[in-house]
Amino acid sequence: MPNVTFSSPIHRDKTVYAVAGSHTQTILKIAKDNHIPIDFSCEDGECGTCMVKVTVLSNKGAMAGPLTDKEIVVLKEHKKITQEEIDAMRVDDVSHARWRLACQLILRDEDLLVEY
Ligand code: FES
Repeated sequence: MPNVTFSSPIHRDKTVYAVAGSHTQTILKIAKDNHIPIDFSCEDGECGTCMVKVTVLSNKGAMAGPLTDKEIVVLKEHKKITQEEIDAMRVDDVSHARWRLACQLILRDEDLLVEY
């Protein structure tokens, strides 16, 4: 199971060992369950409040699923993703995006650094 390290300039870093069943959970849900104060509002991929920077730490390569349509709209509005990244993601079926919405990103079997 993956480790997720949450990092913030104003809070102490915390690494969470994601337990069985986490493959159906969003990064925001895992953060909330572990008392990690990621800001959020709509929890539906529309407001962008939960935007986080994601770095894959395991050496298996990126495994995170493609961005949702809502994420693409919000991340494009905030200039956090390029059309080239969107096109590559659709071909590879994995996300190489550095920015994600925590309420939309489902954890897969990869160690992540999540900066919020
Ligand atoms: Fe609104 Fe995630 S909480 S986009």
